[in-house]
Amino acid sequence: MNFNFTDDQLMIKETAREFAVGEIAPSSVERDINAQFPSDIVKKLGELGFLGMMVSPEYGGAGLDTISYVLAMIEISKVDASVGVIMSVNNSLVCHGLEEYGSDYIKEKYLVPMAKGEKLGAFALSEPEAGSDATKQKTTADKDGEFFVLNGIKNWITNGHSADYFVVMATTDKEKGHHGISTIVVENGTPGFGRGKKEDKLGIRSSDTSSLTFESCKVPVKNLVWEEGKGFNFAMNILNGGRIGIASQAIGIAEASFDAALKYAKQRKAFGSHISDFQAIQFKLADMAVKIEAAKALTFRAAALKDAGKKYFKEAAMAKLYSSKIAVECALDAVQIHGGYGYVREYLVERYLRDSKITEIYEGTSEIQKMVIARALLDEK
Ligand code: CAA
Repeated sequence: MNFNFTDDQLMIKETAREFAVGEIAPSSVERDINAQFPSDIVKKLGELGFLGMMVSPEYGGAGLDTISYVLAMIEISKVDASVGVIMSVNNSLVCHGLEEYGSDYIKEKYLVPMAKGEKLGAFALSEPEAGSDATKQKTTADKDGEFFVLNGIKNWITNGHSADYFVVMATTDKEKGHHGISTIVVENGTPGFGRGKKEDKLGIRSSDTSSLTFESCKVPVKNLVWEEGKGFNFAMNILNGGRIGIASQAIGIAEASFDAALKYAKQRKAFGSHISDFQAIQFKLADMAVKIEAAKALTFRAAALKDAGKKYFKEAAMAKLYSSKIAVECALDAVQIHGGYGYVREYLVERYLRDSKITEIYEGTSEIQKMVIARALLDEK
């Protein structure tokens, strides 16, 4: 596989890096402490075309490939993983889903403003009793004339408090199990739609996460995405692409951890020399660097397969499984290299550690990724 990036792809990476360092970094510590959503930054991301990166220009997007998206996601997440997840959900779960499966009406009304960054999206699959076991959807959407009437609760929804439009999975036919689940776009402000409290999270604190409630919430039938009963397949297909986004976010955190550890090791003195002179530290740095390269290889491979229109769900699961694992490991090593300084807010590595953990949980836990990979392997033989 050829990973010689084009000039255009490198330009996207550089634009993302400059934006992240210049516009995101200055407020990242404060936003983390105060769990403050980065509204101004999200607006500017939209203006840069970073909220609809892979959407075609016809629908207000930047028309870029997945490789460019991965490069940008890494640079943004390297500076602030909270901004990374906001961007990832809007791009890969919401906009990509609506472009692939939405009607012309849905594309015009919902996709265009979200791809332009004028509105923000969220993806609502998880429920209190349907996390990893996502087929067990309890939220219902009953037909009533020209409307679906939604009832139920969603939780752990990224952008839950800030999104304008929600891509919601709900059961339209209980008899048909997961083939009775449908996808419906719900607008914030629809009567019967509510948002629960903002979760007080360990990491990615500047992103917002909340539950959603639907109480006799009436939504026009024309807000149905794809076909009735295709909602679970929609969610699975779209999460494959989402997993590339989260793998990229994890790589960003791992790279930030490595950079911080390397810098600190070269400055910090102990026992008469810089700690970077000690093999114990050198081996950690070497391990981190190898892991980051391996994670990138897996993630760019998945992205390249997606761009080539080939099957990529197993590779996306591998990329997410591995990148999230090494993000946690690299962040832990960075804290260890910093010693006591790694445990306090003065240095950023404690945030990298807190931010890294979620990458092993959302958009399919590591255990779910292993299930997806193993099933694909068994099917191939
Ligand atoms: N790609 C495409 N289709 C897939 C798929 C994949 N990776 N994984 C499963 N499917 C399809 C199957 O082909 C099957 O389709 P048909 O019935 O139409 O043939 C259907 O899904 C059901 O699959 P299984 O029979 O294998 O069902 P299962 O219950 O044994 O396993 C599961 C399903 C893979 C565990 C699935 O429930 C799953 O992926 N769970 C994790 C859910 C998840 O990732 N949640 C993340 C929440 S969103 C989020 O985190 C966003 C955010 O805000 C950051």
